[in-house]
Amino acid sequence: MSQWPDTRILDLLGIDLPIIQAPMAGATTQAMVIAAGQAGALGSLPAAMLSVEQLRQELTSLGQQHAKPLNLNFFCHQNAPADPQRAAQWKQLLAPYYRELGLDPDAPTPVSNRAPFDNAACEVVEEFRPAVVSFHFGLPEKSLLERVKATGAKVLSSATTVAEATWLEQQGCDAIIAMGYEAGGHRGMFLSDDLNTQVGTLALVPQIVDAVSVPVIAAGGIADGRGIAAAFMLGASAVQVGTAYLFTPEAKVNASHRHALRSAPESATALTNLFTGRPARGIVNRVMRELGPMNPKAPAFPLAGGALMPLRAEREGEFGNLWSGQALRLGVEQSSAELTRRLAAEALALLIRR
Ligand SMILES: Cc1cc2nc3c(=O)[nH]c(=O)nc-3n(C[C@H](O)[C@H](O)[C@H](O)COP(=O)(O)O)c2cc1C
Repeated sequence: MSQWPDTRILDLLGIDLPIIQAPMAGATTQAMVIAAGQAGALGSLPAAMLSVEQLRQELTSLGQQHAKPLNLNFFCHQNAPADPQRAAQWKQLLAPYYRELGLDPDAPTPVSNRAPFDNAACEVVEEFRPAVVSFHFGLPEKSLLERVKATGAKVLSSATTVAEATWLEQQGCDAIIAMGYEAGGHRGMFLSDDLNTQVGTLALVPQIVDAVSVPVIAAGGIADGRGIAAAFMLGASAVQVGTAYLFTPEAKVNASHRHALRSAPESATALTNLFTGRPARGIVNRVMRELGPMNPKAPAFPLAGGALMPLRAEREGEFGNLWSGQALRLGVEQSSAELTRRLAAEALALLIRR
């Protein structure tokens, strides 16, 4: 019998521990998914930066090694129409950096790759039938969502406000990820683009719990057993942990990013739109400092990243995104399996002691 005080997510998703290894596009690897899953958590594979072909390959290879429930994660934004004028202004703003690094600002701009959930992605879901499908930035259009649900997958999505949570419940989400302001990576916000609407985890989770009847998964700033126990006290049925998994050897994190994670203080992150066009939390680096983390000239999601690509290829630490949540100083360098087991053991010790 489970010792956890709330087993709704364990029962719903068929997992042993109420921990979701967060999907982290670009940083999550198959090895992380497998290790977290084998330790009893829900492993999550992010699809946002994969082509449909790459996704098929990942799922085929994963299927041969991973017999546990899988969460397949998608972005479901609308791709912004091209805006040549804004793109030109953005390039102009970045031109001094191009010149500094001996690059040609007039060379064609590469296209940044964040793919929204569409018919082709839905066909992959129908083919591979993951136990769980989670979305970021709301939900896909109704007909696609119905097809996902028809596969039997449980559907999750991130809410950053009570209004988003109630909307997601009304659309048929099986559980809601309450994503607090502390979280690393892109804000999942979709009903508003006003950053003043964004709420910290401690305030967000209980207000969402009170507003919806489906189970709530707390995310943002949770990186040890204390955070997990606190989330349960707030009424959450599980947690989604991202930044803590960036410290594992299974994370695909380049050397500059790893160095920043190891050395930056908790005060060193900010929300920035420079790297994709949508606000996301990362460790402040040179380009964020010099252009301001939220710059109105950055093209709409996901186009902003293209013009930065040649710069980050030269100097990743100065021009690449160093995604991280605010709880980075709680990160411990241990394997994904060890991390998962430690998180669960620490939380249970606190929860059972009560
Ligand atoms: C490097 C990184 C990449 C992320 N990419 C995604 C993603 O592809 N899809 C998604 O739903 N959430 C993404 N997120 C958000 C996480 O899934 C999770 O909600 C968040 O990391 C939780 O907060 P924490 O970082 O404080 O643990 C990302 C977060 C990070 C740190």
